[in-house]
Amino acid sequence: MPDKENQIRALPLLPLKNSVLFPGLLMPLAIGRATSLSAVEVALATEEKEIVVVAQRDPSVDVVGAEQLYTIGVRAVIRKASRSKENHIDALVFGLERVVIVKVDEGDGHLSARVRVLSAPDDSSRETEALTLAIVDLGTKFVGLAQPSNASPQELARMFTSQEDPMQLAFLVASMMGLEVTREQALLEAPTRLEALRMVHGWLAHEVEVLTLRNKIAEEARGEMSREQREYILRQQKRAIEQELGEKNADQSEVEAMRERLTKADLPEDVRKEAERELARLEKMSSSQPDYSMLRTWLEYVIELPWNKRSEDHLDLARARQVLDEDHFGITKVKERIVEQLAILKLNPEAKAPILCLVGAPGVGKTSLGQSIARALGRKFERMSLGGMHDEAELRGHRRTYIGALPGRLIQAMRRAGASNPVMMLDEVDKLGRDFRGDPAHALLEVLDPEQNKTFRDNYLDLPFDLSKVLFVTTANSLDTIPAPLLDRMEIIRLSGYSEEEKAQIALRYLLPRQLKQAGLTAEQCDVTEPALKKIISAYTREAGVRRLEQALGRVIRKVAVHFAEGKTDAVVVKAGDVSEMLGPEPFSPETMRRDLPAGVATGLAWTESGGDVLYIEATLLPNGKDLTITGQLGEVMQESAKTARSYVWSHAAALGIDPNLFLNSGLHIHVPAGAIPKDGPSAGVTMTTALASLYSGKPARSDTAMTGEVTLTGLVLPIGGVKEKVLAARRVGIKRVILPRGNQKDLRDLPEEVRNEMEFIFADRVEDVLGAMLPDMILLPAKAA
Ligand SMILES: Nc1ncnc2c1ncn2[C@@H]1O[C@H](COP(=O)(O)OP(=O)(O)OP(=O)(O)O)[C@@H](O)[C@H]1O
Ligand SMILES: [Mg+2]
Repeated sequence: MPDKENQIRALPLLPLKNSVLFPGLLMPLAIGRATSLSAVEVALATEEKEIVVVAQRDPSVDVVGAEQLYTIGVRAVIRKASRSKENHIDALVFGLERVVIVKVDEGDGHLSARVRVLSAPDDSSRETEALTLAIVDLGTKFVGLAQPSNASPQELARMFTSQEDPMQLAFLVASMMGLEVTREQALLEAPTRLEALRMVHGWLAHEVEVLTLRNKIAEEARGEMSREQREYILRQQKRAIEQELGEKNADQSEVEAMRERLTKADLPEDVRKEAERELARLEKMSSSQPDYSMLRTWLEYVIELPWNKRSEDHLDLARARQVLDEDHFGITKVKERIVEQLAILKLNPEAKAPILCLVGAPGVGKTSLGQSIARALGRKFERMSLGGMHDEAELRGHRRTYIGALPGRLIQAMRRAGASNPVMMLDEVDKLGRDFRGDPAHALLEVLDPEQNKTFRDNYLDLPFDLSKVLFVTTANSLDTIPAPLLDRMEIIRLSGYSEEEKAQIALRYLLPRQLKQAGLTAEQCDVTEPALKKIISAYTREAGVRRLEQALGRVIRKVAVHFAEGKTDAVVVKAGDVSEMLGPEPFSPETMRRDLPAGVATGLAWTESGGDVLYIEATLLPNGKDLTITGQLGEVMQESAKTARSYVWSHAAALGIDPNLFLNSGLHIHVPAGAIPKDGPSAGVTMTTALASLYSGKPARSDTAMTGEVTLTGLVLPIGGVKEKVLAARRVGIKRVILPRGNQKDLRDLPEEVRNEMEFIFADRVEDVLGAMLPDMILLPAKAA
């Protein structure tokens, strides 16, 4: 053996730039340097094909001399060599043993080395054994950690343990570690096995520790990455692939389109920010996520809502008047109010919009007037019925988190309107409901408050929306059921009913032409005469408004249309006599006044939701009774009027020439006929008092006079509402004499002139004035003379 060790051999030398060849291991090499090529060729020309492989100290040096080479290398054999291209050889070399380079010779175009074998003493010990085991273990772990995908731990462990020489194990493991050249070289130079094992063990332990830590950190990071983020990354990758393939994903183009719309939309700054935030969220979602379409709908609302968009007002007063007149007959007070508003807007475009409340009987034109107001101002018109609305959420919407949530009706209407200043009609505020789901009146309070509606917050939208430019017009049949705080915020405009003459005018100018047009007929083809109209009005309708009248006219016109459809061409003239043939039997026999009233009956006037009515109050004495009985579906206030009337008459019995014992010895029954219609209100006071005075005095009241007015216990007559309807009702039944409270004298202005001229009005300050006008036969004694 010593011989071998001392034997010097000369072999061609192959310098390696970046690696170290270990004995017992194969290494593929790409050889390109001229000197290296020449050395390999010389080696290949020999029978053994042996060569010395040595690492250079500095990998950047191309032409190396002896001083650039380590002094310990490996004797190797070239197992395979192929010339893939000119000046290039791919070779596979196998390390045989460590050698010490004694001398390097330069010449013949390549390096050659004189080498001597470097052997290691057999230093097997407990320690080398232990280190060997530890290296097998750590080595397996290391490869598993470093390349988790292709590691088969059992196979590796088998390969490691099959190494008989511990030094060889050290080389094998080290070759897998990707160590720096200096370390590999140090290992190659290791004087003993123990030294080599210690080196590799040290490096392995360190590497395994580092790798374990790295994997742990990566694992933690992955854990922190939420499902959403992972999906986002995947989606990004998918998108990149799609872009590469020239495909565009549907969601993405939708988001892009949305972004473009958002950029173009005119939004307040904070709204835009919020929308952009949500759009970014949408972008990360897939359309299959349940939230996706919810978010998209929300964004669509935000983009489409008229945040800053206003329609231009028509500020021409003359034109506005003309439009209002075109649509509606009469109701001059209301029309003037609209024109006033226009004037205000003309002077101050930023003026707060008023909140109008149109009150009146059905069919008097409240709803259609709203439309007309919008037309006159040149604004968009939106109408929503509040009738029967129970749920506050209907107005204000549901939070977005509810499945299928949508904005409330207000915001929906704003989107439809497409302008922030529409005329918004809130129809039937008096029919607003309320129940466990909340009180829509609350939301309305906010909406109708000019101080609050600048920042109206819909639950769904969850962004403040400015409603202050909206012109709200509410309608109601009566004010009784409107919550007081709501009523406070509105400007009440009353639309009283129409007289028969007015109705005839409305029919001639508006309803008839409309019905003819609908039926495709011309005025020449069909003429409805004025007497026929009057007949329809009086015998076929009984209403304050004109809705039934329009329906009846519609029926007449349809009959005429049939006439033409059957091929006849002669014009049709509808006369009063034809009406019953066309409309069937008259539903209302013309009401007439009761001619002879017995003592105890008086003619009153009442206001109902459908207009005015004549109302008879009947009173009778009950012999031997004592109680007061009241029938006829009277409300509380009306019952109180009955009691007040009785007390008044009783307390003034002497002055009225009445025997006070009547009050002590007989009971009293007051009845108000005319069906099951509930009646209430204080305005029957004068009538009650008159009926009782007539009853107790036994003197009948005048039958040609009707009256209305509230009475206090001390006999004052106070003003009441609905004067126009009441007077028209009296006139309808043929009563031409009406007693009104003095305080209502001003309301006569609302009456058509012909009505005013035809009727006789008596204005009462006190009950005595009423009684004096009603009971001509009664001798009224001055109170103090009693
Ligand atoms: N002064 C008027 N001139 C012309 N047409 C009228 C007039 N008043 C009412 N009309 C017509 O009568 C019809 C009924 O009116 P509208 O529907 O506006 O009544 P309304 O007051 O809203 O009733 P409701 O309280 O029942 O809702 C409409 O076609 C309307 O054009
Ligand atoms: Mg209406």
